[in-house]
Amino acid sequence: MNFYRLMLFIVLLQSCKFTTGYSVLALVTDFFLSSYETLRCPLGDCCNNFWIPNNTTKLQVLLKQDVFGQHIATEVVTRQIEAHLSNPSPSKPLVLSFHGWTGNGKNHFASLIAKSLYKKETESRFYHHFISTVHFPHQHSTQLYQDQIRSWVRGNVSKCAHSLFVFDEVDKMPSGVLDGIKAYLDYVDRVDGVDYRRSIFIFLSNTGGKEITKKVHDIWLKGNVKREELTVRDFERLVELGAFNEEGGGLHQSRLIEKHLIDVYVPFLPMEKMHVRLCAENEFKKHNYFPRNKEAALQKIVDGLHYYPEDKELYSTTGCKRVAQRVSLYIAEERYNNRAYERRHHDSSEL
Ligand SMILES: *[C@@H]1O[C@H](CO)[C@@H](O)[C@H](O)[C@H]1NC(C)=O
Ligand SMILES: *[C@@H]1O[C@H](CO)[C@@H](O)[C@H](O)[C@H]1NC(C)=O
Ligand SMILES: *[C@@H]1O[C@H](CO)[C@@H](O)[C@H](O)[C@H]1NC(C)=O
Repeated sequence: MNFYRLMLFIVLLQSCKFTTGYSVLALVTDFFLSSYETLRCPLGDCCNNFWIPNNTTKLQVLLKQDVFGQHIATEVVTRQIEAHLSNPSPSKPLVLSFHGWTGNGKNHFASLIAKSLYKKETESRFYHHFISTVHFPHQHSTQLYQDQIRSWVRGNVSKCAHSLFVFDEVDKMPSGVLDGIKAYLDYVDRVDGVDYRRSIFIFLSNTGGKEITKKVHDIWLKGNVKREELTVRDFERLVELGAFNEEGGGLHQSRLIEKHLIDVYVPFLPMEKMHVRLCAENEFKKHNYFPRNKEAALQKIVDGLHYYPEDKELYSTTGCKRVAQRVSLYIAEERYNNRAYERRHHDSSEL
């Protein structure tokens, strides 16, 4: 009897799906699964499918919503991560090197990857973000830092194979530090009993920014190829050589490059006014704010930034980096003015 009641209950729940558009059963299951997983992992975040869901759709959605003017990076990185996650036995960890001027969104891009990989997004215990000027500040401590990152990476990967390591400001890192983890990035099954092949490493640097900009500008001048037609192949050698030869910096004469352990060099292109505009529009959307005159608002944000080369003013010197702050400021100002206007209006109507 009870069994039939249960069945009836489930059928009823399922039929709600047709009336509300949501599957109540799925919601209930989700709720219990979440509670169970949270109980099982008191710290939140365990190294399993629930907390690391292997969902590349999320990455695509995030990149589409939140990254502008980077068609090469978007395509290449999505493809690489998808391939890496769907490979039942990768032969080495995925190693990506992002290049381009500050403000072009390398850091933001890396954090979106972390967001898509982990349920706890950038708060995940398996996401590790190193900043050279903070973690590796002294040019003469290469040996110490090599030992440090070797032990950090080893310690963390032995806890969870699906770890993500982002090394920011690699160009400011003492050269040679990254060679400390060279053995982990190679085509080997295990190093000292630890398997690194499911992890992802991302290096961010400004190196090659000049060459990338020049290339983009050159094709703009020639005018026969569109920016959107450029591919990763157009930049690969350029960036690789730039990174290897530039004096100082974590990739200078690095064994990682020599040994071809970096899977892709991802160029971040300089951002045009059009892209800055899209960033601004997106920021207003995030604030859920509709300016009184949208066109004027966007124009004001775009015009408030600096562009180069000086005579043509094509590319934003700071990419979209300043946009969020400018938009907040704009909103605050407009709200203030609105209130002032209302007060005046109110006062005059009382007279
Ligand atoms: C993957 O992520 C997308 C976008 O966030 C979401 O709509 C979808 O339900 C997720 N898929 C799974 C299987 O969790
Ligand atoms: C991730 O999903 C893909 C396909 O959706 C599957 O082939 C692959 O085995 C999954 N990887 C892991 C580690 O679960
Ligand atoms: C994991 O990495 C962090 C740095 O992000 C480090 O402080 C910590 O000691 C590492 N854990 C282990 C077990 O090595």
